Amino acid sequence: MKLTLNGREIEAEAGRDLLTTCLENGVDVPHFCWDGDLGSVGACRLCAVRVYDGPEDRVGRIEMSCMTPAKEGQRIETADPEAEAFRAHVIEWTMLNHPHDCAVCEEAGACHLQDMTVATGHHTRRSTAPKRTHRNQDLGPLLTHEMNRCIACYRCVRFYRDYAGGADLEVFGAHDRVYFGRAKDGALESPFAGNLAELCPTGVFNDKHWSRHYARRWDMRTTPSICAHCAVGCNVTLFERGGTLRQVQNRYHGAVNGSFLCDRGRFGMLNAEASRPLPRVDGAVVGADVALEAARALLPGAIGIGSPRASVEANFALRDLVGADRFFAGVTEAEAALVGRMAAILAAGPARIASVKDIESADAALILGEDLTGTAPRAALALRVMARGAARDLAAEKGVPAWMEAAARVAGEGRRSPVALVTPLPDALDPLAELPLRRPPEEIGHFGQAVAAVLRGGASGDPEVRAVAALLRGAKAPLVIAGAGLGLAGPVEAAAAIALALGPKARLALFAPEANSMGLALLGAPGLEGAVAALEAAPAPVIVLENDLSRRAPVERLMEAATQVIALDSLETPLTARADLVLPVAAQAEAAGTFVNHEGRAQRFFAGRPSELPAAWRLLAALGGKSSDSFDALLARIAAEIPALAGIVDAAPAADAGPIPRAPARCSGRTADDLAGRVAEGQPHNDPDSPFVWSMEGKAAPPALLPAPQRAGMHSVSAVYQAMERIGGPLKGGDPGALLLTHAAPAGPALQDARPAGEGLVLLPLHDPFRGSETDAASAILAARAPAPRLVLHPEDAAALGLAEGAAVRLDGQPCPAPLSLDPALPRGHVGVSAGLTARGARRVMLEVLA
Ligand code: FES
Repeated sequence: MKLTLNGREIEAEAGRDLLTTCLENGVDVPHFCWDGDLGSVGACRLCAVRVYDGPEDRVGRIEMSCMTPAKEGQRIETADPEAEAFRAHVIEWTMLNHPHDCAVCEEAGACHLQDMTVATGHHTRRSTAPKRTHRNQDLGPLLTHEMNRCIACYRCVRFYRDYAGGADLEVFGAHDRVYFGRAKDGALESPFAGNLAELCPTGVFNDKHWSRHYARRWDMRTTPSICAHCAVGCNVTLFERGGTLRQVQNRYHGAVNGSFLCDRGRFGMLNAEASRPLPRVDGAVVGADVALEAARALLPGAIGIGSPRASVEANFALRDLVGADRFFAGVTEAEAALVGRMAAILAAGPARIASVKDIESADAALILGEDLTGTAPRAALALRVMARGAARDLAAEKGVPAWMEAAARVAGEGRRSPVALVTPLPDALDPLAELPLRRPPEEIGHFGQAVAAVLRGGASGDPEVRAVAALLRGAKAPLVIAGAGLGLAGPVEAAAAIALALGPKARLALFAPEANSMGLALLGAPGLEGAVAALEAAPAPVIVLENDLSRRAPVERLMEAATQVIALDSLETPLTARADLVLPVAAQAEAAGTFVNHEGRAQRFFAGRPSELPAAWRLLAALGGKSSDSFDALLARIAAEIPALAGIVDAAPAADAGPIPRAPARCSGRTADDLAGRVAEGQPHNDPDSPFVWSMEGKAAPPALLPAPQRAGMHSVSAVYQAMERIGGPLKGGDPGALLLTHAAPAGPALQDARPAGEGLVLLPLHDPFRGSETDAASAILAARAPAPRLVLHPEDAAALGLAEGAAVRLDGQPCPAPLSLDPALPRGHVGVSAGLTARGARRVMLEVLA
């Protein structure tokens, strides 16, 4: 279909809104309420253009471009004088009540309203009437609330309620006031609330950490990075100034996080420097050189324990230092086998490995055992988008065009989506699922295998099995999700069997437990029990890489068998407190490295703030006398030695692709940063591990390294990410990263779950979107937001043990910080424990009353 845009004939999609059509064709149209993900509602009236129906139409009319579908032969004039005057009036009305306080506003410099006000030429306030004011709310530790800045674009509630499924943010109206907030003060409940800080075009909702430490956009240095808080691997941008990390924002990735993050990823990295260990030998703080020499003396015969929290490079460097036969994955044997099996299943196919984007576009989904909102929150948000798509399809059946998002939503409201959840406990996604089903953890795999059998043509006497099979069979793009959340192989094997039965149309997502679990699995090391056996056979020193082993079941035996424990870490943890020797290393936000996400996508992160501490891989190389190794040389060695990781080199351009400036061209200059009376500004920090430099000198970043795209006259996130990048701006060069699981090979034999032996109750991990990994636990910001940890029993199990609600108990001999709560929904014979409170894995735990 053809139409004419500002005198230029263009190809356009019939029915697509004119605003998107203009933006896709490089023509800016001012807008507030339209958003690439949320669609059109026509609330702000800013996107006015003149539309002519065809060559015969000489008059045309002013239309809201976001609400007008493209039609054959149309002529659109965005610079029509009447349209421009209309837009200027809208801005003037909007500014009637908006504070004129840009000089002291933390949003200034990245404010969409500021961009639009400048763009429309409004500079003089004619009104002398007093401005309308509102009372702000305390929205908890993550977000600020400044309602006087509101321009009623409705983006916040549309994202929070319609897109992310939240219920506690509302719009209230009385007389000439609308108010966006909660019914009463309190933390926003949604784990995706932080996105409001990016979506709000004026700064009503802002990142609280940022508000306390804000700087102007052009004074900050930006670096692309990867979230370290779960296996999804969302792409983020780190904003640094004066050596401190000020803000973390979404970095658009078409297949992974799109335009949104979860709060764990947005806020969890911000205080990387907060809980830093000091170099110690036998508990005494020493100089870094002393600690290094002491470690070097212990090297001969040492055993290395890797980590799913550390980069591929750091794990490989440890393996290189101690030798492949003395390197062990820092997870239990069961977890190492499970994640290795996930990689094998995904690589073998035939199901397509589901990216987050694939989850959004599925038309039926089955989740086996995984509390997705707790273990992989961004994937849970994608599932909500999938459900929203189902509502839109229903609306289309009723004749409401899909582009008319708001009407479509209303028409589709109330419909449950083609989602089946088979979980041990009630789930946050239950309200949108057609089949929210409960099974004890150990039965979920059997349930899934029964579904697979029906899909292969067998029969089942269980109507719920038949219903799930029918749901998946009837879909064009069915999706099956499982993961390591329960620590069981059953759900993963069943998901693979179902995907196999569904054939090539199926998509399969298997979520590993941590950010680099998959990278560690591809290194192919045995689990911790192997290390314990080796140490018990021949006691030796142990080097533990960025791993709080107190979260892993065999820790006590390992600590007893090791002659010395050397801990390399960027965080102070219970393990560093017990270690004989502590070597501090740069945090993930301060070093380059690679994580491999749940789909086998290798993604590179870079140092987002300069650090005097060495990256873990560099310190390990120095210990082994290889300090001259460059990051790229290390990558080349990994690719050469580990065939499964050969593609890692392609995850990002090499260091010689630079120099790429982290500071924008119009940076105020380093002298304004943090000199505190000093005159000489010193040399910029050196970063040999990336193409980036800590200055404003260099060349434009290629798309794969673009941290925060800049466009002349457009500085806000709304303008840059939500509109231009998403639909083909500078990121059109392709999404960064390299998919590693592409070589189909037989997946090998299925894993069987061993029934946990011994006395006690079977551990059922309770996941939470604000608490899970070691890095979450180290974040003071997340800790302030996370709910109290939980310890849950079925009332009958509690009665049998003589435990009452609220009892203080010992968990595996240690006082448990959570009082006992009772819940009849908990499967009998299990104890629900917040993830991180005790060592994880499929095992039994002992409960005793705390005397
Ligand atoms: Fe079109 Fe708001 S009315 S963008």
